[in-house]
Amino acid sequence: MQLPIQTYLADLYQRLFPLQEGELASYIPELTRANPDWFGLCIVTMDGFAYTEGDWGQPFTIQSVSKPFVYALALADRGVDEVMAKVGVEPSGDAFNSISLDPQTGAPRNPMINAGAIASTSLVAGATSTQQWQRLQATLSAFAGHELALDEAVYHSESETGFRNRAIAWMLRNFGITEGDPMPSLENYFRQCSLLVDCRDLAYMAATLANGGIHPLSGQRCMPAEHVERVLSVMATCGMYDYAGSWLYEVGMPAKSGVGGGILAVLPGRFGIGVFSPRLDDKGNSVRGIAACKQIAHDFGLNIF
Ligand code: DON
Repeated sequence: MQLPIQTYLADLYQRLFPLQEGELASYIPELTRANPDWFGLCIVTMDGFAYTEGDWGQPFTIQSVSKPFVYALALADRGVDEVMAKVGVEPSGDAFNSISLDPQTGAPRNPMINAGAIASTSLVAGATSTQQWQRLQATLSAFAGHELALDEAVYHSESETGFRNRAIAWMLRNFGITEGDPMPSLENYFRQCSLLVDCRDLAYMAATLANGGIHPLSGQRCMPAEHVERVLSVMATCGMYDYAGSWLYEVGMPAKSGVGGGILAVLPGRFGIGVFSPRLDDKGNSVRGIAACKQIAHDFGLNIF
């Protein structure tokens, strides 16, 4: 028997597949190898059931969708006061790669833009950058419910071309937001962006946030419960960068996008959504991904406001 959500997703896929607008991200050369037609959808409910459609099993790199989970890890490892002193929570209204720092303190405006994410990565616990990386990879894997592998080609491609992020990392060092040599942490940031996921993984990661930080299948607590609302708040206001206002107005759910083409959205207490399609709009968000989330929010009346 076809379940109603399954039938709904199959219909949504057919309706949105014809959307051909947008371009693959090309500033990381390796990302241009994606098939622009890939389109996957997944909804995970609080009992851990996954409804999947289309290219839901196609691996792609998580990119900026990693940022809220690393922010959660920084909060867990350093506490709210230390993290708040180094990374703000104000929407910048700027592009993901903008150098949006507080002019007095140098603190990045929020943890979803690159500057704030690079600072968050540097705050993760570990005596060495290798140990920090192991902790990052283990935590992102716990949210997904299985070990996430690194796409070495994408990692090297971004590391070889990420001059702007290098400049941002040195700006953070200049203001004392980070300490020591900022380059090892920046490499960890490039690595976290290059972890491979599929859109079902994104939906489980979203469902774990929707479930108060506990993975709905493994039962593992992936982050302290007290930080879930902080992470969701910052996703709601900053997760979609300079599209965040329109997103909240039209979709009304905390969410995060990445230039690999993934978007995850969270309906607290009910489910997690993962969508994937690599053609991006001029703000770096998946065109079909945004269209799918808008439609799902509209059809199920999910706008939390
Ligand atoms: O820092 C970068 O440029 C990438 N690794 C991540 C950017 C990203 O995914 C922005 N989101 N739409």
